[in-house]
Amino acid sequence: MSPAIRIQDLTKHFGPLAAVSKLSLEVPTGTFLGLLGRNGAGKSTLIKMITGLMNPSSGTIEVLGQDVSSGSLDIKRRIGVMSEGTALLEGLTAAQYLRFIGRLHGLADELIDERRKELFEVLELAPAARTIIADYSYGMQKKTALCAALLHGPELLLLDEPFEGIDPITVKVVKDLLLGLSRKGTTLVLTSHALDLVEKLCPVLAIMNEGKLVASGSLEELKSEHGQNMTLEELFLELMGGGRSGELSW
Ligand SMILES: Nc1ncnc2c1ncn2[C@@H]1O[C@H](COP(=O)(O)OP(=O)(O)OP(=O)(O)O)[C@@H](O)[C@H]1O
Ligand SMILES: [Mg+2]
Repeated sequence: MSPAIRIQDLTKHFGPLAAVSKLSLEVPTGTFLGLLGRNGAGKSTLIKMITGLMNPSSGTIEVLGQDVSSGSLDIKRRIGVMSEGTALLEGLTAAQYLRFIGRLHGLADELIDERRKELFEVLELAPAARTIIADYSYGMQKKTALCAALLHGPELLLLDEPFEGIDPITVKVVKDLLLGLSRKGTTLVLTSHALDLVEKLCPVLAIMNEGKLVASGSLEELKSEHGQNMTLEELFLELMGGGRSGELSW
């Protein structure tokens, strides 16, 4: 069986900057991968290229056995994406927005409504379902974007910072929801700076620095290379060349 994602020699240039540089990575089907890296490491750029939202400068990406550059609609139907920011249609209510997204995926209105109600119940969006998205708090917008990514039951889910701006109670709900999907066989890739959450959720990690993949494998494998008793935070700091002082001179 082909892996859920196969990336070979992928590069993305923005002018002179290589935001992603000669990166190769395979994500087997059913993996729950945590993609880590400092601000500007290239994570969001990589996610956008995997999902076909951005073209690479060079290299190849296969998703679910198909070349992403083919622009295949079949891939788009089988993956769910929560890109950076929220990118929602702000003049719609969350219920209208999900109806729109569901129809794009070819779902029947009854199924969309059934799933939307369950998602809104679980993520506590039900009271705001008839308010336009522009009037939502940031966390509510993120939750709406997550619902849109999940609605069609994707085989592969790519989530760029799904926990950013989400309250601690909802973080627990989203964690349980993602672990449930993983148990059912969904392949998941998420980026997050919350290393404690990633450590609990993601059995497999890929760590980027300055556009390059600097480490990948299971946490156990990475620990056996760098130090058995390390937490993920300690491992991350070591790979990035240590922490820095944040003390000001004034
Ligand atoms: N559209 C763009 N035009 C020019 N440069 C860009 C563009 N998008 C990203 N970059 C640059 O590419 C690099 C990687 O950015 P990217 O958003 O992928 O990082 P990231 O790892 O997601 O960071 P963060 O953790 O802050 O979200 C950064 O230096 C950024 O300034
Ligand atoms: Mg990013």
